[in-house]
Amino acid sequence: MLPRIFQRLRHRLFGGDTSYDAGLENEALFWRKALADEGKRWSPEAFRQRMDPEFAFPPHLQELVAASPAANRDPIQVLDVGAGPLTAVGFHWPGRQVDLSAVDPLADVFDSILDDLQLAPPTRTRKAAGEDLLSVFPADSFDIVVCSNALDHSRDPLQCVRQMFAVTRPGGWVFLWHYRNEAEEEGYAGLHQWNLDESAGDMILWNRKARHSCRMELGSQAVVDTRPDSQVSRAIVTRIQKQVV
Ligand SMILES: C[S@@+](CC[C@H](N)C(=O)[O-])C[C@H]1O[C@@H](n2cnc3c(N)ncnc32)[C@H](O)[C@@H]1O
Repeated sequence: MLPRIFQRLRHRLFGGDTSYDAGLENEALFWRKALADEGKRWSPEAFRQRMDPEFAFPPHLQELVAASPAANRDPIQVLDVGAGPLTAVGFHWPGRQVDLSAVDPLADVFDSILDDLQLAPPTRTRKAAGEDLLSVFPADSFDIVVCSNALDHSRDPLQCVRQMFAVTRPGGWVFLWHYRNEAEEEGYAGLHQWNLDESAGDMILWNRKARHSCRMELGSQAVVDTRPDSQVSRAIVTRIQKQVV
């Protein structure tokens, strides 16, 4: 993708279609280019890792499993929401079984890209938007629900958070990783219609018309903890645990 400063300049100078639907088309184009040369112009390391049949289940998610009723359950059920064509969540955990599902509203397009390029990732992304998870999965069915760099690409991030929370088992976790305030950075163009930010540990979803607190919206069954990612500038991590009632 073009560096941000050039994207903003291009929008300002030449306009162009900055609608949400045009954003979905651009996202599909981005992935077709990114995967075409085994990630050489995107990230060769990410491509290699995500295609690896032994892609490791990451330590920060192992810690969440340990702090939940899933600590004693096998297999554990994990969902990646807005996964793109190659989920960034691994599944290989020696001594444990991780049953990983990945969803994205562009899954049909990703299928044709993967087929054209004859790529067979270890986890195939299925079609579903974050807003509609309950039409695909039963409530209370995942130990961990992950959404990385995708919630702020959705049309309705609050509905996505509600649905992610609904499909999480009591005692389980929603894990979110995002850059702060991307819509402001991107000039509310394309998929970037919402900002995510942190305030006193809460996750705030906001744009020019609305502002939502995840703590207020999810209520007392949710313990929400948002903090900066100490490794990545501008990134924030949110862990939401669904209390057992
Ligand atoms: C920047 S990519 C991130 C992909 C992947 N999570 C990663 O970290 O590589 C954003 C993804 O969000 C997806 N997306 C867009 N709208 C969405 C929605 N309503 N629900 C879930 N994902 C959505 C896009 O299709 C795209 O694959």
